[in-house]
Amino acid sequence: MNQLQGETIAAAASSSNLGSYDEAYANFNWDEIEKQFSWYVTGKVNLAYEAIDRHVDAGKGAKIALRFTDQSRDEAYTFEDLQALSNQFANVLHSYGITKGDRVFVFMPRSPELYVSLLGIIKVGAVVGPLFEAFMETAVKDRLEDSGAVALVTTPTLLSRVKRNELPSLKTIFVAGEEIEVSEGIVDYHAEMAEASTDCEIEWVNREDGLILHYTSGSTGKPKGVYHVHNAMLQHYYTGKVVLDLQEDDIYWCTADPGWVTGTSYGIFAPWLHGVTNVIRGGRFTPGDWYNTIQNNKVTIWYSAPTAFRMFMGAGEDIVKQYNLSSLRHILSVGEPLNPEVVRWGNKVYGRRIHDTWWMTETGGQLICNYSSMPIKPGSMGKPVPGIQAAIIDDNGKILPPNRMGNLAIRTPWPSMMRLIWNNAPKYEEYFRIPGWYISGDTAFMDEDGYFWFQGRIDDVINSSGERIGPFEVESKLVEHPAVAEAGVIGKPDPVRGEIIKAFISLREGYSPSAELKEEIAKFVKEGLSAHAAPREIEFKDKLPKTRSGKIMRRVLKAWELNLPAGDLSTIED
Ligand code: WT7
Repeated sequence: MNQLQGETIAAAASSSNLGSYDEAYANFNWDEIEKQFSWYVTGKVNLAYEAIDRHVDAGKGAKIALRFTDQSRDEAYTFEDLQALSNQFANVLHSYGITKGDRVFVFMPRSPELYVSLLGIIKVGAVVGPLFEAFMETAVKDRLEDSGAVALVTTPTLLSRVKRNELPSLKTIFVAGEEIEVSEGIVDYHAEMAEASTDCEIEWVNREDGLILHYTSGSTGKPKGVYHVHNAMLQHYYTGKVVLDLQEDDIYWCTADPGWVTGTSYGIFAPWLHGVTNVIRGGRFTPGDWYNTIQNNKVTIWYSAPTAFRMFMGAGEDIVKQYNLSSLRHILSVGEPLNPEVVRWGNKVYGRRIHDTWWMTETGGQLICNYSSMPIKPGSMGKPVPGIQAAIIDDNGKILPPNRMGNLAIRTPWPSMMRLIWNNAPKYEEYFRIPGWYISGDTAFMDEDGYFWFQGRIDDVINSSGERIGPFEVESKLVEHPAVAEAGVIGKPDPVRGEIIKAFISLREGYSPSAELKEEIAKFVKEGLSAHAAPREIEFKDKLPKTRSGKIMRRVLKAWELNLPAGDLSTIED
């Protein structure tokens, strides 16, 4: 079925936490994992305790937990520091009446304050909602409104994108910056922190109580609030052990922003549940800066994304030679298909295999992966994590034999499975429409050796540089522009970004196509929604293909774009 299936890259001889995949898979038992947490004994659970305080209690308080660098800062925080700071923020939250179950958002660029705030929010038992710093007014408002957020932590610059008067639930905004003008509902983060006690009573919650709300895009409607609970830490911990292969002395760097699930599950929870030193780099950076970060921090485990690895491949081999990357032991990737060529290139140039991992915002943690002790087949996502049963099923739930393409599905439940789509039960149920299974929305096949191969998304969701963008959200913004009558948005294959956003637009009366207008429209989306959601290509059309019920047929747009047959056109209007 696939000429690549025969190609393998053998595992290195060095030892790994997993050992034999087959044995680990056959003997797996979640109860054994649970025994490694304090709640197994105390019955009390809070992820922030397990990630930070537990290590202090175990005498590791002086170990570096966080090394932060960006253009202007270079700082280190021990587990003890993070314990004290997150306690302080928890106390600040308490003093503003914020308690268990409240939704509290963080909307800031990567900074130590972001990580401290997030931990503090979890410590009071509130549900944290991380927002990517590039979101503009509408994107921010939609998410705060849908979740009914009562508080927000942000910076002076980003505060201007928060439409406070349209958000009646939002009572308190903590602003972290210099010389904050305090007013009704606006609180000076640093001033409050300075006053707060470093001791705090952690809110012990149930395993099924809310932890985090990540908004993610679907093909229709507004973004969905994917809700995860404290119990997810079992998956974060276990995959941190066998997939990331975290060991006591590792220096770990996950390049993702906490605005996306990779940046929390694997940028915060997994590494700190294992008590390892976590490197965080803020700001935008060039290949040289990335390599510098690895060299200066002696990073041993590096978790990034295909779009970044393609950028490095494009930047070439010579630049790699200018840095000492010998500290690297283990490299991983997530977010979109990892091209076989990139795996081969990485193996040759870094002398390390790049381990692809597959999962989703909804799954909360890694589910299908490559492991340091298992041969890699370049182009394959790997095999299910021990404890996870994956299968290719047809639309009726029948399991398909090897090499047949179908729905990539996971047996329910598993510890980090989403527990709700906020305010949207029907959406949630769609994922579980076939009894006993979670339907991912991805298509794939499994080969005779049990390796899974990604084929595509079933819906129209666009994956650009590893970020999932719902075409509907972009289209809705586009039609707010006075010149735009209708818009249809698709992902167009792109060698570096995976896909780019292409918009087909029909104009209103009185407007005519021009290059300036294209630019203006792209800018409009960039400033109203976010830079990563702005179309990189725009094509004007007199009319867009639509169904009789008025739905824009994105698959027809895609077929036009790629010169493919448009398929069944029975529902199209004249
Ligand atoms: C979608 C989920 C969860 C981390 C980041 C993305 C695609 C993810 C892979 C992979 C091929 C992948 C899928 C999936 N995807 N990892 N290793 N190979 N495709 O999370 O934004 O929720 O997107 O990303 O299509 O369904 P997300």
